[in-house]
Amino acid sequence: MPGPALTWELADGVAIVTFDLKDSPVNKFSRAVKDEFLATFTALEQDRAVRAIAVFSGKPDNFIAGADIEEFVTIGSAAEAERLAAEGQEMMDRVTRFPKPVAVGIHGACLGGGLEFALACHYRVATDHPKTQLGLPEVQLGILPGASGCQRLPRLIGARAALDIILAGRSERAPKAFRLGMVDELVHPAILQDITIAAARRLADGWRPRRRRPGGVLAWLLDRNPLGRRLVFRTARRQVLERTKGHYPAPLAALEAVEHGLKHGMAEGLKREARLFGQLAVTDVSRKLVQIFFATTQLKKDFGLPNAPPPTAVQRLAIVGAGFMGSGIAGTAIVQAGVDVRMKDADLPRVAKGLAAARALLDDRLRRRRIAKYEYARLAALLSGGDGYAGFGRADLVIEAVFEDLSVKQQVLREVEAAARDDAVFASNTSTIPIARIAEAARRPERVIGMHFFSPVDRMPLLEVIPAARTAPGVVSTAVGFGRRLGKTVIVVKDSPGFWVNRILAPYANEVGHLLAEGASIEEIDAAAVGFGFPVGPVTLLDEVGLDVAEKVSQVMGAAFGERLQATAGVTALVKAGRLGRKSGRGFYRYGGGKKRGVDPAVYELLGVHPNGGPRLAEILQRLVDGMLNEAARAVGDGVVGTPRDGDIGAIFGFGFPPFRGGPLRHADDLGAARLVAELERLAERYGPRFAPCEVLQEQARRGSKFYP
Ligand code: 3HC
Repeated sequence: MPGPALTWELADGVAIVTFDLKDSPVNKFSRAVKDEFLATFTALEQDRAVRAIAVFSGKPDNFIAGADIEEFVTIGSAAEAERLAAEGQEMMDRVTRFPKPVAVGIHGACLGGGLEFALACHYRVATDHPKTQLGLPEVQLGILPGASGCQRLPRLIGARAALDIILAGRSERAPKAFRLGMVDELVHPAILQDITIAAARRLADGWRPRRRRPGGVLAWLLDRNPLGRRLVFRTARRQVLERTKGHYPAPLAALEAVEHGLKHGMAEGLKREARLFGQLAVTDVSRKLVQIFFATTQLKKDFGLPNAPPPTAVQRLAIVGAGFMGSGIAGTAIVQAGVDVRMKDADLPRVAKGLAAARALLDDRLRRRRIAKYEYARLAALLSGGDGYAGFGRADLVIEAVFEDLSVKQQVLREVEAAARDDAVFASNTSTIPIARIAEAARRPERVIGMHFFSPVDRMPLLEVIPAARTAPGVVSTAVGFGRRLGKTVIVVKDSPGFWVNRILAPYANEVGHLLAEGASIEEIDAAAVGFGFPVGPVTLLDEVGLDVAEKVSQVMGAAFGERLQATAGVTALVKAGRLGRKSGRGFYRYGGGKKRGVDPAVYELLGVHPNGGPRLAEILQRLVDGMLNEAARAVGDGVVGTPRDGDIGAIFGFGFPPFRGGPLRHADDLGAARLVAELERLAERYGPRFAPCEVLQEQARRGSKFYP
């Protein structure tokens, strides 16, 4: 049995309560913890020596991570979930109505139910530390803040600001939370205890803190009168629908809970909030999003090997190639990991351009007040570059991001080996070339590995780490560990053409050519995919990736896998005509002023096709999706990913496979192998053998088995 989560001691009339859930890295509210809170508060109420209360977390860098997600996934019915939320609300209400003042000192993540608790307290002090984040991430789990968050936050900071946070499931760093009025005081961690206790004591002496209403006249106009408020809700609803395309019920339900409460009062609002929480908690969407949360949490600890040695901490990074990728990696490494970065390219103008691009990421941080000026100066000084390998001898890790060509990459590898330490890791940022081929040129192949970043590096959350057959286990750990320090979700994948992401994207992208040839329009193809839940359709994706890059990838895939993954000639024709996608202002679409400007009709002519109805939308979608699921299943069979979990997370974080569907392998499970095989057989008969169902799916259909048992 874990020990008690709460302890307290009395200091001059103030009860200092420490929440430290035993055997758990984070504090969370389970039923048992809630009961302990209630019992503790009862004891504190009865103890006449206690005049005020100050609550802290006993965890070094976490305040309270919210309700216990593991507990609420076991809930069987909406009614039970509704009851759970109502009990949470009662606990918060008990805190608010507590006859003695309750102040809370927040350091570390203060999320979900944790923030709801803080909101229920009478005074909030937070540290200005970067780890202190306050937010209501519930909608990201497909639920809503159900322990009175939908009522308390808008009452404290206004409907507009509260909806911004609740509907996006956002967390704010403490300084922003302070500006918004979510916390009353912002302090250095060293004085958190003292300030919070002092506030509790002053409250007990009758002091009433004056809260300013942040936001000025505009906020007053919009938040405080019914007409303005109606506008706020109408706008928010429209934005939610634009963003979720109706696939995610939670943000709309949260909106309803907030609106209902502001219209009909706190008590009615709480009832509605609990009921909607109950309904959401048992939806399939919520189940899928919670699975993703646990999968990404597991991945944070997984180094892709059974007994992975600990990673070497990278202090100095060197990068060859100061182009878009190289500078993206450099900027991200400085911003996220604060490591020393040395860049090299063939000539100084290129290096200068790369350094400027890397630094732009830092500028952006400063502009958005994510870092202070002194921090900016310190980080900017970490960045340097040249046209030779000077400084490479100090690097722990060298990443090459040069032109996607085997002999060029091998040449760079030889030069780096001559300049770098023997124990430095050499990582190739290739999207397609097998790492073993690159490593053939190495004197120390055990130090060579693949790190496939996605573009733009600072924004794309996934990293594929690719050990080759001879890569040393410690090198794998080091690459994975460094990827995590860059804030990436990392999957370790097998060294085979296209790795995971480009492998399963290949049939999806190739199908575009077939569909266009059959008279489908570009808009229809994209609309089908977006309707399914992809952030953009495959045609737009090609434009984003760059058609020259896409062409290169498809050539490699075609050469490796033959007819099945052979691309049609379309993309090549566009590249020849100088259409490289968004970066050149024209691809399948036209671009101007940073925006997509619609399909360029000239493209049809270049491709020698014209839209004339073509296949129906449902048929387009089935071809796009089933082809991808089939290839994903085949790649799992080939061992490209270690587990279905890695495959699904890779697809969701790599190119936005709809999270509410749980990933391609979960989606295949949901359809059922028998149905998928039947669909693929029909498609194969109609459109050709590229759709023939793979062995893995056929086997699953025969046995009635799944990827996730
Ligand atoms: N419930 C259950 N387990 C949780 C949890 C939660 N709310 N938050 C974190 N954990 C667990 C993780 O699963 C992990 O478990 P493991 O060690 O057994 O694998 C462990 O705590 C450590 O988590 P991380 O590895 O993620 O630690 P980090 O330090 O990297 O991050 C964190 C900490 C920022 C708190 C992050 O874990 C997080 O974002 N947690 C989820 C927060 C959240 O979504 N809260 C809302 C919950 S729903 C709610 O409150 C409903 C209410 O409105 C009624």
